[in-house]
Amino acid sequence: MKRLALALLASCATAPLEIQDYPCPPQGTTLTYASFGQRFIDTNCSTCHSASAGSRHGAPENFQFDTIEDVHHRADRIFVRAAATNTSMPPGPVDPPPDERDKLAEWLACGAP
Ligand code: HEC
Repeated sequence: MKRLALALLASCATAPLEIQDYPCPPQGTTLTYASFGQRFIDTNCSTCHSASAGSRHGAPENFQFDTIEDVHHRADRIFVRAAATNTSMPPGPVDPPPDERDKLAEWLACGAP
């Protein structure tokens, strides 16, 4: 019981940053799907979150990020799992560098153009 309470506390302490907490900069973003988003997703997510992934390693069928429309549809969840200080995706061991996660946050916050 005590262990459960501690586990709950720990998960609260690491509540993820949400997309609505991260404003698009006033000047907007220069990042686009073509210049940034597609490559980020291909490099870090598509081995599991693609319709053509050989083995999805347990990634849910309804979370695939093959097109810009897929990304728009799941933008809030992609943000919570992978953008800025959120690092629960990809599940590792290879992690995108922090500046790439910051770019992902800006791009998503600006509507993923
Ligand atoms: C090695 C395989 C793998 C890679 C790579 C991967 N994922 Fe996942 N993903 C999973 C698995 C397994 C689950 C289901 C378990 C879970 O939710 O933690 C999942 C679930 C998700 C979900 C649905 C659950 C939710 O919180 O809404 C989202 C969104 C997600 N991943 C985003 C991403 C993003 C964004 C990337 C790339 C930055 C990524 N994943 C890379 C395996 C992967």
